[in-house]
Amino acid sequence: MNRAPNNLVPLNRASSPGMGMKGSQAAQRSPKDRILHMEGIQKVYGTSVAVENTSLELFAGEILTLLGPSGCGKTTTLRLAIGLERATKGRIWFKDRLVDAPEDRVFVAPDKRDMGMVFQSYAIWPHMDVFGNVAYPLRVRRRKADEIRREVEKALDLVGLAGFENRPGTKLSGGQMQRVAVARGLVFGPDLLLMDEPFSNLDAKLRDQMRSELKLLQRRLGISVLFVTHDQSEALALSDRIAVMQSGRIEQSGDPKELYFYPQTPAVRDFLGRTLNFDGRIVARAHGNLTTVELAGGMICDVAGADHTNSSAIHSRCVASIRPEHVKVTPRGNDPLHATGYLAGDILTLLFIGDRYEASIRLSTGMVVTVFLPCDENWEEGQAVKLMLPSERLQLWKSEGAQ
Ligand SMILES: Nc1ncnc2c1ncn2[C@@H]1O[C@H](COP(=O)(O)OP(=O)(O)O)[C@@H](O)[C@H]1O
Ligand SMILES: [Mg+2]
Repeated sequence: MNRAPNNLVPLNRASSPGMGMKGSQAAQRSPKDRILHMEGIQKVYGTSVAVENTSLELFAGEILTLLGPSGCGKTTTLRLAIGLERATKGRIWFKDRLVDAPEDRVFVAPDKRDMGMVFQSYAIWPHMDVFGNVAYPLRVRRRKADEIRREVEKALDLVGLAGFENRPGTKLSGGQMQRVAVARGLVFGPDLLLMDEPFSNLDAKLRDQMRSELKLLQRRLGISVLFVTHDQSEALALSDRIAVMQSGRIEQSGDPKELYFYPQTPAVRDFLGRTLNFDGRIVARAHGNLTTVELAGGMICDVAGADHTNSSAIHSRCVASIRPEHVKVTPRGNDPLHATGYLAGDILTLLFIGDRYEASIRLSTGMVVTVFLPCDENWEEGQAVKLMLPSERLQLWKSEGAQ
């Protein structure tokens, strides 16, 4: 697992059941199952560094997702993998073969790498029909006409477009173009399919459908996928493993639950799902593995699983973070605004989002937080509430800038 520099490591690991990579899965991964291996990759355009010191491994039969905000280097990493760009530094292996190593003067052209690619724009050629588009990678590889016809039919069938061979490229809906692009990526039976934000141009419903279809197709074919998205829920839903990128680097990689529950850097914590971050001070190193923290507003809470090797001094500032779904909210009635047992606040807005309310709550400190409330209970805007933060769900971080 890639880790960020030590000063950003959280102070504890919030415990949650069933987390981390399954032992059997970890044991199955060996270098010989490696489909793609990038080591120490740097890509510089003029004076700007698009990718910096990036290493990743992708194993047979898995979906690995590069997740990060726009401009963090995801597309560049894919283009380097397939050979549409040459690395400035580092080495890339595809299966056992070194395919890019500027220091060793090695570079293997994209059509010799046997990777399929689905571009963000789909890149469907308008002057060709569906057959021509899907057949293209086979023609480049000089396959025979009868094989081309057979393989194109098979690929179109896989993506649910059987019978669309003669439809012009210009007469396709967004979803159909997307399917043609997947068929073209798969048609020559590559060991690795690269997908660059393939669903970002689709409407929400179709996007959900395509995600499930992709996962089913990937499981059925046993193909490996390097997927790129800026959408964290897409990454969580689709991936066997996720690598979170930020400013050209991989901040952390791991399975989705590991990243969600054990983020190692503030960027990963805040990018994957929502987090509530409360400023506080460490007031005691308690019994067992508990650390006692006083949050702004006066609440005292024990944080479980504190890592003492990483511990900060008593009185030092810290940040206690928690996922909104783990905050317990109850009506406050006439209980006081300042207390050590809870954070007090009032409901500012209440949004009914189907299966629950999304409530923004103004705390006594003035901070506004968003939490979820069950919709089978009666809540109203303006209502006085208290927030409780279960110890085992809190994660403790060094305050940025703190010693
Ligand atoms: N051909 C290029 N020439 C110059 N700069 C580029 C080029 N391609 C990408 N970049 C820059 O590299 C950085 C990463 O871009 P990109 O890989 O496209 O990010 P992402 O796909 O995560 O949005 C950005 O700052 C972008 O402007
Ligand atoms: Mg991109």
